[in-house]
Amino acid sequence: MARFESTLIEKVVGEVADKLNHTHLSVTDHLVGIDFRVQKLSGFLKLRSNNDVRIVAIWGIGGIGKTTVAKALFNRMHRTREFEGSSFLRDVRETSMQPNGFVLLVLDDVDNIRQLRALAINRDLLRPGSRVILTIRDLSSTTSLQVDKVYKIEELNEDESFQLFSWHAFRRDRPVEDYKSLSKEVVSYSKGLPLVLEILGSHLSSCRDILEWRSELEKLRKFPHKDVQGKLTLSFNSLDDKLKVLFLHIACFFVGMDQDLSIKILKGCGFFPESEIGVLSRRFLVTIDGYNRLMMHDHIKDKAREIVRQESPEEPGERSRLWH
Ligand SMILES: Nc1ncnc2c1ncn2[C@@H]1O[C@H](COP(=O)(O)OP(=O)(O)O)[C@@H](O)[C@H]1O
Ligand SMILES: [Mg+2]
Repeated sequence: MARFESTLIEKVVGEVADKLNHTHLSVTDHLVGIDFRVQKLSGFLKLRSNNDVRIVAIWGIGGIGKTTVAKALFNRMHRTREFEGSSFLRDVRETSMQPNGFVLLVLDDVDNIRQLRALAINRDLLRPGSRVILTIRDLSSTTSLQVDKVYKIEELNEDESFQLFSWHAFRRDRPVEDYKSLSKEVVSYSKGLPLVLEILGSHLSSCRDILEWRSELEKLRKFPHKDVQGKLTLSFNSLDDKLKVLFLHIACFFVGMDQDLSIKILKGCGFFPESEIGVLSRRFLVTIDGYNRLMMHDHIKDKAREIVRQESPEEPGERSRLWH
């Protein structure tokens, strides 16, 4: 009887957990080339072997899609229940939480061993069969992190880039005929970085006509190929002054905060946040996650905070905003 009950309870808990879908991580609706990348990552993780621990680092610059691949793999594993437990720790750089059970562990945005120590994560403590995925920007952290394999994530290829860009610029998976060659130019400028394609795509989708497109691209040409920051700046500079202020407020104070609460506060400061946040999210500068929180890509957030820091690099008291 006791055994029957415990099986029953396990089953109920399993189903409720499924329904709540608590650990399903949100990723963009318009994924391109994800199967290939997830498969490659699973290969590196050697999921079939149960006798050892494996730590794989996904390495690449900000905006290339490390977190997205890790989330996609995590969601698949979670669905097929291949692990007894799974945890996804975001922004390890900024948070330190205690995971409550090892198995598949994803540590997003790690840059040094101290962070893993603070989380009490140590290779010797992991049960055989456990898998850890780290996402890192700096390759030099891999030695101290005792990584078994580094997956240098690929940029999107030309086809994938066209698809992603077109989706954001035209709401379809191929460019509109008249815009083909201009689109080609953007794709080549973006160097296969999904974040840049998303932002430029949404930015250009707000242009009225082909002339405006040309003039925006003219500005884009001023940035060197590898200057991701510069490409993001283009999108920031195109905001009107009030939106710039709002954008910086969000970057400094509201990331991760409930959207409704943020709206209330911002209304009190004279903004029209409902529509203005709408504009920012259409430009991909802000997103809303599945928990109704305001989010911003860490790369964009860093960029925004850098703008504020530059107001007075030496004397924080002279800056327009302070945060910790
Ligand atoms: N394969 C992909 N297809 C479509 N969009 C992607 C893909 N990979 C990343 N993105 C988008 O690009 C942006 C940056 O991706 P992210 O995973 O956050 O990069 P990273 O973690 O390397 O900084 C996100 O907005 C994400 O939705
Ligand atoms: Mg990331």
